[in-house]
Parts: sequence; structure tokens; C-alpha cells
Amino acid sequence: MLKKLGLIATCIFVYGGVSLAQVEITPTRPEFVVANAASRDGQDLSGSWSYSIDPYRDGLYGFHGSPSGYGHQRFAPQDVDIATRRAPSALFEYDMARSPRVTLPSSWTNHAPEMRHYEGLVWYSRTFEAKKKRGERSFIRVGAANYTARVYLNGELAGTHEGGFTPFTFEVTDLVKSGENNVTIGVDSQRTDKSVPPPVTDWETYGGITRPVQFITTPETFIDDAWVRLDPDNRHIRVTVRLDGPKAASQPIQLSIEELGIDLREETNADGIWTAVFPAPERLVRWSPENPKLYDVTITAGEDDLAERIGFRTISVEGEDILLNGKPVYLRGISMHEEELGRDPSRVMTEAAARALLTEIKDGLNGNFVRLAHYPHSESTVRLADEMGLLVWSEIPVYWRIDWEDEGTLDAARAMLAENILRDRNRASVILWSVANETPVSEARNIFLNTLIDDVRELDDTRLVTAALLTSQSDQGDGEVARVDDPLVTSLDVMAVNTYNGWYGNVPLAEVHEISWLSDHGKPMIFSEYGAGAQAGFHEVKNPRKFTEEYQAEYYRQTLAMADRVPFLRGMSPWILKDFRSPRRQHPIYQQGWNRKGLISETGERKEAFDILAAYYRTMTETSDETSTE
Ligand code: GCU
Repeated sequence: MLKKLGLIATCIFVYGGVSLAQVEITPTRPEFVVANAASRDGQDLSGSWSYSIDPYRDGLYGFHGSPSGYGHQRFAPQDVDIATRRAPSALFEYDMARSPRVTLPSSWTNHAPEMRHYEGLVWYSRTFEAKKKRGERSFIRVGAANYTARVYLNGELAGTHEGGFTPFTFEVTDLVKSGENNVTIGVDSQRTDKSVPPPVTDWETYGGITRPVQFITTPETFIDDAWVRLDPDNRHIRVTVRLDGPKAASQPIQLSIEELGIDLREETNADGIWTAVFPAPERLVRWSPENPKLYDVTITAGEDDLAERIGFRTISVEGEDILLNGKPVYLRGISMHEEELGRDPSRVMTEAAARALLTEIKDGLNGNFVRLAHYPHSESTVRLADEMGLLVWSEIPVYWRIDWEDEGTLDAARAMLAENILRDRNRASVILWSVANETPVSEARNIFLNTLIDDVRELDDTRLVTAALLTSQSDQGDGEVARVDDPLVTSLDVMAVNTYNGWYGNVPLAEVHEISWLSDHGKPMIFSEYGAGAQAGFHEVKNPRKFTEEYQAEYYRQTLAMADRVPFLRGMSPWILKDFRSPRRQHPIYQQGWNRKGLISETGERKEAFDILAAYYRTMTETSDETSTE
């Protein structure tokens, strides 16, 4: 359920007969944010669940499309075995209790061999014990379910959600009972042209419940959302807290940051919201990759309290520079998909799995930046970036061919954006919100994306907005020239471009270093993608072909030489850290369903190009250390 709190701005856009007649100007907000949900009371429902596939959605609709009948409702808390013993003539064509069991969270790709390429609806079910208490509220929260989900508790529908990469929470206070409860979730990976992303991407769908499901209990009035940050002026700390419940209004509230001697006591307003601004203490250490300092922050209101670990830093742009805590920073990065190491990943990104990958970036590549592509990654990964000291690009999957003129598609994208920002806006590591990747320029697209950009600015005035763009390129006789001429740039803080000269396109690899870049925007640019495929272990020293490590290595040398000649370049996140699954990549020898542009293979083997980028970043840090000590 989404809250529509805002005003309606009437703007008429008519093109191709379809109109985005009315665009709600206030961002969509999820009904519940449940800030730092992992710290909440309740139960983590990870573990053993039964599952049942439902390719024809029989559990929802009967043969003429009417709601499914008694014997097909897999969400019903029914022990079919007992029911049929009691009524031998009863017909059930499912039995969740005796269905195969799997461990969640995990995509269903490795539940069974036949599930590897399954697309469609799967029902998951388990029971859990709960004790219903007076004055206590209960929620079911799902970290992520790809792509649409229906959540039932004890046979009652608690809510539905669209979007495979952001959390959603439904209140079940009236549905929960003392004793055994049955939670059933129907997850459908099917996407249409109106989905975000659309059906065709360059990554594995990984349908299913890919992040933890929680049963959460809170006091009647609880702290639903809390945002504590350093103002862009680098001198004030600002707090915004939103209580949810009957005693939200005029509620005494306290913020404490013991290490800084901060102990603020005030009161919420009539809407249960508290905002405060106060000078940042002299001794406040600014968070940075070199010193990822986090503070323990506690907020108390009524019977509820919320603990958070927060870093304070500013990120801004000045001309062609990106400034971290007021100083120019170069983003030494790499892109990454949410896919753990191994030959048979199923998008189980545990903290350990994320740490293995982020460590390869920080310690292996000497990086300080990671582009989490092309969708919001797990909250635990972003919190780890806070702890480890990695700057983060966070993105929603507005990718390639979106239905720009469909209002439902825009609503879905706006909801994902809000869910992402509200989940992670306390994370110091996150510096960039990206609203799109490689989207074709059109009026409808520009309006769609500008709506998202406005939402970002409304939801978070402390971070930078970007999008991964394509550029035009031509040879006017004095060598290849790439131009950043996407009209969307005017709305962005940082220009980001994906460029694949030497891999895609006709520019010979040996000439890539000569390519020049032009921009009259006076803004910083980052290479959000560049890369070449290589199968680990495939070597050819003389005239190396594509997919050899040698070709990929030379590709990096050429591209880095080109990068050195781009005066407004302030960072990069080459494509990509690790080989990843993609149904689009079916070369029988070099790909076998994997995109091989990783600098490490799917099992973590470093390719030659890894060392080239690592050396390039090491030199950069050494040089900047020298200049900063001079
Ligand atoms: C694109 C796209 C990626 C894709 C990559 C590739 O730029 O953004 O999602 O994987 O190219 O072709 O490897």
C-alpha cells in the first residue's frame, strides 16, 4: 500500500496519443518504512519453507478466470492430509505441508534442476509461533521478492507488492493469532513490457524470495522512519523522525549520540513528525573510505527506541569536481551485480558473500567506490559498505526499453525509488542515486526520468543524482570524438556514461586511447561502464582474440589511457567485478550463459586485467597521498 500524501500538479503532456495527463508531484511513500528493520523485535523467518510451482496461476484463478476454488487455494492454512482423512471425497490438488522444502532466502533457480529456468508463480509456505500481546502491533516484512508478491497470513491476504529489489511491509496485527501461524507468499517472476525492468535485460532474473522475511512486533506507536544526516553545509546535523500509531502526535522524543555528547529531547508535531537541526560538534569525525567512522545513534519515543549506526559526511559537486567532505574525490570503482561467488549462485547475498566481493574491490583493486547495478542490492551489502569504507552508487532498474508512456510503469518506478531511498538514506556510503541505465532519448523518456529526478530531490537533498547514459560519437577527420549530449544531463549532478569502444562498435582496439571526449556541461563525469569479455584461463599471446585474457587486458590499458585524457572525468566503475549469469550470453565455448566481462571469474579467479586496474588505482592513491602531504 502506498501513501499518496501530495498535491496534484496538472500538467498536460500529449504525444503519440497517450498522455501522462496528471503527474503526482509528491513522491510516493511506502505505507511502512520500518527503519533498521533487522534490529526490530520479532522473528527472522529465514530457513525451511515448503514450495509449490504454479505455472498457470491455478492457486489464484479457476479455469474461467474466476478466483480459485477451495481445493486450489495454496494460501489457505490447510492441512490437506487431515482434511482429506476427515472428508475422503474432498478434492485438493495441492498440499503445501507435504510439498518439497527449501531454505529461504534464495532464488528458486537451484531449488531443483527443473527450476533452473523457471519463470512464473511459485507458492512458499511455513508456520511460526507467535504470542499476541495487547497494545502490540505485528508486521510481515519481506526484504525482496522478485517480481510481484502476494503475502497471506493465516489464509488472509495481507498485501501485494511489485518490484524485485526493495523491501515491503504489511501490518498483520488483526490477522496474527497466539500459537501457530501460517504465512504463505506467492511470488511471480513474470514481467511484462510495463514492468521495471522490462522482460529483456542482461542479467539472470533470479525469481523468488531473495532476501529475509521477518515477523516484526512493535509497540502500538513506533518509530517507523528516522533520518539523521550532516547537512550539505557540513556544519549542522539534521534529524527527521516519523512515528506511526495512535500516540504519534505531541510525543516526547529523544535523540542521543553518546560519543558526541548529544542528548536532544523535544516533541513530535501534530502529524507525529519531529524535525530538528543543531550544530555539528567540533569533534565530529567525517566518514570517508579512508576513515569510515560510524556513530551509535539512538532515538527513543514513548515505549519504542531505535538504534542505528550512522556516518556523517557531505557529498557535493563544484564545477567538474565531486567533493567529499568539501574535498575533490576521484571514484576508483567497479560495477557489481547481486550474485554471490560460485558456479551455481542463486542470489543468496549473505553478509559473508558480500564481504568477499567488497574486499576484492577495496583491498584487491585499491578501490573506494562500487556501482551496485542495476537495482537496489541487499541492505546488508550497503551497511557493509558503510563499515568497510566504500562509496556506493545505488540504482533502480529503469533499464533499456521501459514503457515511458504508461502511468502504471511510472508509478512502479517511483515506488521502487522511494522504497530504495527510504531504506538507505542513513547510509553514509551511498553518494549517488541513479534513475536509469542506457535508456533511448525521447520526450516521453525525459519526462518520465525527470519525474524520478524530482522525487529524488524531494526525498533526499543531501546526495547526488545521476543516470548511466549513452553518448554520440563520430570522426570529424581529426579522430574519434565522443560527445555527452543527452538532454537529461541538465537535470543531473553527475554525468555518467557507458562506453564500450574496442569491444562493441568499430573503433579498433589499438585506437581507443586516441578517442577524445567533449562536454560543454561543466559537470563531473564518470565512466559508469566499460569492459570486455574474457574467459578465465583462455590465453593467446599473438593477435589475441576477443574473450582471451590478453584482449581484455589490452582493452583496459587502452581505455585507461583514454580516460587519462578526459579533463572532466572524476571516476569510473568498469563493467564488471565478477562474471555473472545472463541468458543473453550463449557462446558455447566462452560464455555458456555467463557475461564474461568480469575481472574475476564466477569462482573468483583473477584475470590479467584485474592487476592492470588495481595498479592504476594504486598509482592514483599514491599520487594523491603525495599531493595531499605536500
Ligand atoms: C550494458 C548494460 C549492462 C550489460 C553490458 C554488457 O551496458 O548496461 O547491463 O551487461 O552492457 O553488454 O555487458
